[in-house]
Amino acid sequence: GAAAARGARGLRFAPVAPNTADQVTVPAGYTQNVVIRWGEPILRGAPAFNPDKQTAAAQAGQFGYNNDFLSLLPLPGEPGRQVLVANHEYTDETLMFRGYDPENPTREQAEIAWAAHGLSVVVVQEEARSGKLTAVTRHPLNRRLTATGEFRLTGPAAGSDLLKTSADPTGTKVLGTLNNCAGGTTPWGTTLHGEENFNQYFANGSSATDKRYGIGTGATERKWERFDKRFDAKQEPNESHRFGWVVELDPYDPDSTPRKHTALGRFKHEAAQPRLTEDGRPVVYMGDDERFDYFYKFVSSKRMKKGTSRAVREHNLSLLDEGTLYVAKLTGDSPAAEVDGTGKLPNDGEFDGSGVWIPLATGDVSHVPGMTADEVYVFTRLAADKVGATKMDRPEDVEPSPRTGRVYVALTNNSQRGTAGKPGVDEANPRVKNKHGQILELAEHWDDPASDGFAWRLFLVAGDPEDPATYFAGYPKEKVSPISCPDNVAFDPHGNLWISTDGNQLGSHDGLFGVATHGERRGELKQFLTVPVGAETCGPIIQDRRVLVAVQHPGEVDGATVEKPASAWPDGPGKLVRPSVVAVYRKDGGNIGV
Ligand code: FEO
Ligand code: CA
Ligand code: CA
Ligand code: CA
Repeated sequence: GAAAARGARGLRFAPVAPNTADQVTVPAGYTQNVVIRWGEPILRGAPAFNPDKQTAAAQAGQFGYNNDFLSLLPLPGEPGRQVLVANHEYTDETLMFRGYDPENPTREQAEIAWAAHGLSVVVVQEEARSGKLTAVTRHPLNRRLTATGEFRLTGPAAGSDLLKTSADPTGTKVLGTLNNCAGGTTPWGTTLHGEENFNQYFANGSSATDKRYGIGTGATERKWERFDKRFDAKQEPNESHRFGWVVELDPYDPDSTPRKHTALGRFKHEAAQPRLTEDGRPVVYMGDDERFDYFYKFVSSKRMKKGTSRAVREHNLSLLDEGTLYVAKLTGDSPAAEVDGTGKLPNDGEFDGSGVWIPLATGDVSHVPGMTADEVYVFTRLAADKVGATKMDRPEDVEPSPRTGRVYVALTNNSQRGTAGKPGVDEANPRVKNKHGQILELAEHWDDPASDGFAWRLFLVAGDPEDPATYFAGYPKEKVSPISCPDNVAFDPHGNLWISTDGNQLGSHDGLFGVATHGERRGELKQFLTVPVGAETCGPIIQDRRVLVAVQHPGEVDGATVEKPASAWPDGPGKLVRPSVVAVYRKDGGNIGV
């Protein structure tokens, strides 16, 4: 209709109104299918999902829990097929197991949860002339990586004493990956996966560094330390140092050992998205998702090679092992008195300014006084504390625009900004008790990703557009959708930015939005979908014909259990609530938003 016809190219759909429906709500003229659910078998020999007969062995061959980041890679030679890679951030035992007793988890439940963490590789098949996507079970590329399989630490800190444990005196061989949140796709055909809130899996933390990373001093919620002593920091103080990295996976080689890249630093990695310098060196942008933590980049000293031979792929898998790790310091250009904490724009009309990239370490050389290079990589947060980096409002996902090179950083929220004993506002984080978050737009000097300085401005200051403390790149507010808590970001083929949310504070469910970043409609934000009760919208991918989202933790509401579910998604009443990947596409088979 007429409403659907308006908007920037790629965003011509009738916006979905804020709502609390227990479903994925999509625009008029669009439809959807569940691509894959938690527990569906993907490996040869894996059984069909049976909620009452879950085993660790079954789960290790089935799609994992709480899908988050998604990547779709081409699959040459197999028409209509692509390779889907998914993160499985964490488990929600009370929604997985009937009669779960949080005080007394069984070994079997812990082992199922280990197998439900990690990553999945699943080949998917398009339906002809449609955006519909279905999983190809038992494809030879399909793979599960869990909390117990083998990973290799690479880069300058690999083998460091700080990474050795009694089970691994080499400091290079880690069992498993944990809390994979967002990620990235590299131009050389691999995927990156951020290990985020790894602290929650480790009990009995005691050191100052444990504290800085949020490792608690007592038992953990899941109590895995009862079943494997490596999760007890008192017995294995270095095991937690082996998590909190960016993982790189080669989805085209099912026998490859994924790498944890020490050169990219250790923190609560939300995401890692590379772009190339003019001479072909990757630069990776990364957020540390914690209130008052930092925004980083890594600049490789090695050039990407083109091609798919084994030698080329091996070379490219080492690109993120050599280079310099930086942290961002941002300075506003308006007088501090004009940034009063309410969100009112300064007199120059923008929250904006300049920034510098402060080097932390290059290879084996530390740039931080009083810290060795190994310490900078393993305790990156402390290094950034020392050099005076800017404390941000939860830097989450980040995405460079493939069109303009500008980098977009989602800053989800920060309820503690400007409260007693906490850092006050600054021009990049301008609201006290920031409930709704903002999106920062960063332009490297001379558009060179390896530059040591940049300009920045806030592109969106989120919230209800009727709230004067919001900003939509100057676009008329009566024409935009309300948005709260931006988290994951992605670009569509037209150069529009798509934003998914986590923790909507405006009374609606979380959702997915698209917004033009250039041209007359820059700032025109439109809601594309909403997700079911308790869910977060993750992993958006926007292709010509489909939008793919990971519906994470549906039904996650205080007090909800398998017996007393808060949601009936996706399979209706009486069935387990299951995190799932959903494809949304036009009923007439046309392209998204045109
Ligand atoms: Fe796992 Fe920062 O969201
Ligand atoms: Ca996230
Ligand atoms: Ca300003
Ligand atoms: Ca989040």
